Amino acid sequence: MTTFIREREMIVMADEMNGNSAGDCAATKVTEALTFVTERIASRPRVGIVLGSGLGCIADAVENPVAIPYGDIPHWPRTTAQGHAGRLVLGELEGVKVVVMQGRVHHYEGYSASEVTFPIRVLGELGISTLFATNASGGVNLGYRPGDLVAVYDHINFMGINPLAGRNNEKWGPRFPDMSYAYDHEYLEMLESAAAEEKIPLRRGVYIAFSGPSFETPAEIRMARVMGADIVGMSTIPEVITANHMNVRAAAVSCVANFAAGVKPEKLRHQEVLDSMARAARSMERLLRGFLRKIS
Ligand code: HPA
Repeated sequence: MTTFIREREMIVMADEMNGNSAGDCAATKVTEALTFVTERIASRPRVGIVLGSGLGCIADAVENPVAIPYGDIPHWPRTTAQGHAGRLVLGELEGVKVVVMQGRVHHYEGYSASEVTFPIRVLGELGISTLFATNASGGVNLGYRPGDLVAVYDHINFMGINPLAGRNNEKWGPRFPDMSYAYDHEYLEMLESAAAEEKIPLRRGVYIAFSGPSFETPAEIRMARVMGADIVGMSTIPEVITANHMNVRAAAVSCVANFAAGVKPEKLRHQEVLDSMARAARSMERLLRGFLRKIS
């Protein structure tokens, strides 16, 4: 009996840490956000797109846009990071109905794992079957250069958090979802063929995420390299885990914004990340368009 009570307390504590206090509270919040969004659109999107640091301008390409500031959507976490606009843009791109997140929130902004992935829950409930996530990263692989685009084919979750911790909502997905193909292999091939057609060099790499917000130390980057990581960042993994949980197929493309810590003698600066991303945004948009043409 005492063991049972202790277990129950632990579950409630984990739920609270993940923002799902009192059982289905998170699901209720998702429904409220969903209702708010669906009241403003005529049809449901098929593809969710997350635009990372410095890539927000890609949202301007959406046709027949309906833009909703994050601040207007009930329970939606507000972005505080520089380079993230904070709007949901719904419309069409290459004839595909899309919902674009112009900016994301991160764990390092003080949000729990389930708050970080709240938007993915809403997008999943909106009915997306595909998630296309983008991000900025540091090049861990010594062959990578700033400006390189990398199709993520696997990840190492080194963030110390998992968005599925706490009580599982069976309506969203199973307790122990498989992550063998967290990055859909058919999508990887589509990305590579779209890149070849557009003559955009595209690498395939393993993404490792640390919680941030401090950049990694050179020793941490050497460890990441030994572990098999090619690029490093502070996002995307919670979103991809959540998408997989909801049976949404995921693709992620990273833009190498800088050499990871210790690769070069210079110190890392966030402005360098934003400048590299601004330069890479057009190639990322062309790749995204090519990918959308393939899945349509
Ligand atoms: N480390 C972590 N996150 C990043 C980096 C980096 O070097 N560059 C862009 N995002």
